[in-house]
Amino acid sequence: MGRRGGRALLALGAALIACAWLLGSAAAAGEPGAAGMRRRRRLHQEDGISFEYHRYPELREALVSVWLQCPSVSKIYTVGRSFEGRDLLVIELSDNPGEHEPGEPEFKYIGNMHGNEAVGRELLIFLAQYLCNEYQKGNETIINLIHNTRIHIMPSLNPDGFEKAASQPGELKDWFVGRSNAQGIDLNRNFPDLDRIVYVNEREGGPNNHLLKNLKKIVDQNTKLAPETKAVIHWIMDIPFVLSANLHGGDLVANYPYDETRSGSAHEYSPCPDDATFQSLARGYSSFNPAMSDPNRPPCRKNDDDSSFVDGTTNGAAWYSVPGGMQDFNYLSSNCFEITVELSCDKFPPEETLKSYWEDNKNSLINYLEQIHRGVKGFVRDLQGKPIANATISVEGIDHDITTAKDGDYWRLLVPGNYKLTASAPGYLAITKKVAVPYSPAVGLNFELESLSERKEEEKEELMEWWKMMSETLNF
Ligand SMILES: *[C@@H]1O[C@H](CO)[C@@H](O)[C@H](O)[C@H]1NC(C)=O
Ligand SMILES: *[C@@H]1O[C@H](CO)[C@@H](O)[C@H](O)[C@H]1NC(C)=O
Ligand SMILES: [Zn+2]
Repeated sequence: MGRRGGRALLALGAALIACAWLLGSAAAAGEPGAAGMRRRRRLHQEDGISFEYHRYPELREALVSVWLQCPSVSKIYTVGRSFEGRDLLVIELSDNPGEHEPGEPEFKYIGNMHGNEAVGRELLIFLAQYLCNEYQKGNETIINLIHNTRIHIMPSLNPDGFEKAASQPGELKDWFVGRSNAQGIDLNRNFPDLDRIVYVNEREGGPNNHLLKNLKKIVDQNTKLAPETKAVIHWIMDIPFVLSANLHGGDLVANYPYDETRSGSAHEYSPCPDDATFQSLARGYSSFNPAMSDPNRPPCRKNDDDSSFVDGTTNGAAWYSVPGGMQDFNYLSSNCFEITVELSCDKFPPEETLKSYWEDNKNSLINYLEQIHRGVKGFVRDLQGKPIANATISVEGIDHDITTAKDGDYWRLLVPGNYKLTASAPGYLAITKKVAVPYSPAVGLNFELESLSERKEEEKEELMEWWKMMSETLNF
């Protein structure tokens, strides 16, 4: 047996062990075993996608099956556990699963944060299967996407809530049952309210990014934070995400920051410094969804106030103010730009409609993902070529800086235009460069920063040279 054969066997063995682990802990969480779950499976199947609701064990099975089909470009991991002990599962699609590649941006989709908002959960399972299928078929668009992006897909941030919602008998589900986690906490009101801090900083001066920098420990000790919230906060802090969407249900719109009003009023357009970019990103989702972007679409319910909706998008706070949401938390605690997408008027629509939701959202989901390759990207290094992590990239006229990741790599999402970018880091001389940004792809722009100590050495040497020359010329 050659080395390759041995490797393949090893990989298969690892796959089987992981499989047993994934299916096994489903039983540990008090669920029926996988074998008992194969009820009307394969009824609405197409290309390996089952257009049916996936209960927790079935969700695991679906992800494992994508992984077994595309093991070279996928990986399953968990970011933590729900209150009742279910894994917060993620499937990652990338040409180097499990690794951050220098220069390659990282993307995430999160679904089902409100456990009773079920469409996003299913769309993300379908999306993982679709990406794997198209990759195998040789679809250039999908191959490029997977080779140039690290894509993380978390179908459910609230698996406990989903089980509660899904176990109600009959097709018609209550509007609220299963929304919160098992402790009764609404996860999308449970994040540290960084909007309040940035609004003070806007008036009085102070940082405009990474507002939780030295507070990681406080997060761990905070007993008001749900385990799901803590897990996702760590995830946001640990991976250099660039772009993200949080999928909800109950309406039909792509919602962008800020979600919380500056004044405290219930509705008020509350632009963040990247308002133009977020409007464009949100349109990048809504414009590919025929129902969402239809200007003549009646509101989901007769008395709903949709007056803030424009082309299927809305500023969050213009619609209604939400403190403690995940979307603004991403923007204010990390480099990640996140929008919140409301996918369906019904939160838990009949199973037969899932396929049409997929058809309406498939192109939106892919196109939104592709938005990650816009703006400016590059590396910040010193004169010896060593990466500078945590360097600041600021854009003239936009009061929101981003920072470099550990390999000195950065991604600055921007709409088309002419910009001045400055790279700076403590102990280095800052450099400003002009750049013209098209719609896409992202423009490459690297910075080589001279350290101040090097600069001092140089100045000393120059002075010595000058003295030598002077003394030779003047002959003393
Ligand atoms: C490849 O994938 C893209 C994005 O989903 C899709 O628009 C296109 O139709 C696919 N190409 C083929 C040949 O199926
Ligand atoms: C960058 O900043 C983070 C957060 O403050 C810190 O944990 C990390 O050690 C820093 N890395 C470097 C190389 O300075
Ligand atoms: Zn919701």
